[in-house]
Amino acid sequence: MLDDVVRDLELARSRTLSLTDLDEPTLVAQHDPLMSPLVWDLAHVGQQEELWLLRDGDPSRPGLLEPDVDSLYDAFKHPRAERPALPLLPPVAARAYDYEVRGRVLDLLERTPAADLFTAGMVVQHEEQHDETMYATLQLRQGPPVLLPRHSLPPGRTVTPERVFVAGGPFTLGVNASSEPFSLDNERPAHTVDVAPFWIGRTPVSNGQWRDFIADAGYDRPELWSPRGWAHRLAAGLSRPKFWTADGTRRRFGVEEEVPDDEPVQHVCYFEAEAFARWSGGRLPTEQEWEKACAWDPVAGTRRTWPWGSAPPTDERANLGGAGLRPAPVGAYPEGASAYGAEQMIGDVWEWTSSEFAPWPGFTPMIYRDYSQPFFGGDYQVLRGGSWAVARSTIRPSFRNWDHPIRRQIFTGVRLAWDA
Ligand code: AVJ
Ligand code: FE
Repeated sequence: MLDDVVRDLELARSRTLSLTDLDEPTLVAQHDPLMSPLVWDLAHVGQQEELWLLRDGDPSRPGLLEPDVDSLYDAFKHPRAERPALPLLPPVAARAYDYEVRGRVLDLLERTPAADLFTAGMVVQHEEQHDETMYATLQLRQGPPVLLPRHSLPPGRTVTPERVFVAGGPFTLGVNASSEPFSLDNERPAHTVDVAPFWIGRTPVSNGQWRDFIADAGYDRPELWSPRGWAHRLAAGLSRPKFWTADGTRRRFGVEEEVPDDEPVQHVCYFEAEAFARWSGGRLPTEQEWEKACAWDPVAGTRRTWPWGSAPPTDERANLGGAGLRPAPVGAYPEGASAYGAEQMIGDVWEWTSSEFAPWPGFTPMIYRDYSQPFFGGDYQVLRGGSWAVARSTIRPSFRNWDHPIRRQIFTGVRLAWDA
């Protein structure tokens, strides 16, 4: 287990360093008011690693940085919008700081019993989440490309029928440390939940389907939208997914290109997802439904580690890790199907659910007490399944992400559900 954690720490760091292997102006600029300058993320991952692993989570314990510098990287003290104005460590100093922290962490882990590696696994996932955030920052950035795809993706295929049936009845929602030692606080504890029978889309919704929605005046028919969604649609002037152009192309990582019909749609907000679902005669899944369709094995009566079973993710099962720089086409992963036949549940695009972010019964905060708890009951919808940009170490069928329902800069798409 130590070897796995050390490997995952190194994978996270190599991603961080490659995403920030950019000139200083690109690293210190704020590319969008929603995002931090990349140089903030670069030092924040090290500051959090030091806080949770070397300072026992206590910011009053002295660290490697002066207290006034250390506190610049406290996300609760400094909202993203004000981060570019802070006297941040320049890139070279940020990398040196991360390197120094990491050396001390590796020394400490040599002496850490396997049972105590949770916090290190949490730190891996924290850094990987920021790596995904940095992809989103680079997607928002204007200017010539700095990221290129380094990995080809499998072809899509026609998938019929479009939906699979999930029988009603109890299943186990959430996980415990015994089966998922690196699950985060909001995924625990495992508990039994009963859901009514439902249908769920075999694959995420495609760009081609989204074009049909636009062509059928989906953005102009208030009856398809929730009242709040329609108000937002008007105020924000929504008429197509973010990064699509009026000419029917799209801009991705500095490249303008045709929108591939067979790729899962990305960069739609929750309100657009709701309207699309109503237009197509369906709805969004709850997160309970989503997790059952992803992980439950109705024959064995147990959860699977992955939708397809216990074997680890491979390039034939899921699109993860970011190197492809995009979702794979619909139907690209028949080997990744869940017990119910749902495909592409892990990787490709985050999927909006109709559930608001709330704790499972018996929730207990982890050492990073403010990771989940301050956000419960806020204006957040749960997202499931991970995108092409998430790391293997940082996604599970039980993994819960959340964001405001108006957000579209994340790599988010849609999977439909229907009442049975
Ligand atoms: C779980 C993705 C919503 O980025 O706000 C990173 C993850 N928390 N640092 C976020 C997180 C603290 C979080 N999300
Ligand atoms: Fe963070």
